Amino acid sequence: MRVQTDCNVLELTQLASGGWTMTLESHGIAEQITAPGQFLHIRCGQGQLLRRPISICNWSARRDLIRVVFEARGEGTRWLSRRQVGDNLDVLGPLGNGFAMEENGRYLLVGGGIGVPPLLGCAVQGSRNCTAVLGFRSAGHAMLLEEFGQACLGGVRLATDDGSLGHHGFVDTLVRHELEQRQRYDGVLACGPKPMLKSVAVVCREKGVPCQVSMEERMGCGVGACLVCACRNAQSHYVHVCQDGPVFPAEEVDWNE
Ligand SMILES: Cc1cc2nc3c(=O)[nH]c(=O)nc-3n(C[C@H](O)[C@H](O)[C@H](O)COP(=O)(O)OP(=O)(O)OC[C@H]3O[C@@H](n4cnc5c(N)ncnc54)[C@H](O)[C@@H]3O)c2cc1C
Ligand code: FES
Repeated sequence: MRVQTDCNVLELTQLASGGWTMTLESHGIAEQITAPGQFLHIRCGQGQLLRRPISICNWSARRDLIRVVFEARGEGTRWLSRRQVGDNLDVLGPLGNGFAMEENGRYLLVGGGIGVPPLLGCAVQGSRNCTAVLGFRSAGHAMLLEEFGQACLGGVRLATDDGSLGHHGFVDTLVRHELEQRQRYDGVLACGPKPMLKSVAVVCREKGVPCQVSMEERMGCGVGACLVCACRNAQSHYVHVCQDGPVFPAEEVDWNE
């Protein structure tokens, strides 16, 4: 069940990458979360400014806490980054479906840039039996590495576009290596820019490993009522990314849309 409520900002800290980590007292939203990869719709600013979708990075239902990690990209997220501890935010959530995971399943988590945070929830809440492949523009943009290192029993592999940390190049090379060299994975869970998701999906199809991808679309209502996030899937049916997703089996995505 989704909840709309005022959430208290308990912590807001800038990461070395330039992004922000925010912990919210969730007033009942945390206990409604059913899967990692779901998101919150946070009203960013007063007046007409719409809500902004931000993935749940981690949560504790027992302590009523939700953590989000975000980049200040435009007006809305810049406003969010200027909140103070003690401020209230108007939050709707949890929204969307999230990643389908088996408790002891073995997963390869593949994240790119600001797509990395929700995958931490997969490792902490879904299954510890994970290996993470994380890609960033450069070493300076890398985030949450220590936490992935603690959460993923299979370890963490890194790639950067400029070679300043880990493999010089894109994550799909590391994904291919993992799927060829290592023991069987029950699935690949990916979140990041669409071209990255597309190349990961190609490798998974080649290797016969099920792949789920979390898609980013601009959103309006966040609850399936406005069509802003509607797009055509591989079967040419319209889907709402906010409600039917944001996570889809890779073979259901129309990669040419
Ligand atoms: C399901 C979902 C989960 C997300 N999770 C996170 C997260 O955990 N952390 C995070 O930092 N961001 C996340 N985003 C992206 C975030 O919602 C956008 O960055 C935010 O809405 C931008 O709003 P703004 O007002 O700051 O910027 P705007 O001024 O609206 O836009 C700034 C720039 O970002 C682009 N942009 C805006 N919204 C989106 C979008 N939805 N997808 C792609 N590009 C966009 C615009 O085209 C523009 O170039 C998520 C998006 C979705 C759909
Ligand atoms: S954002 Fe309104 S239908 Fe998805």
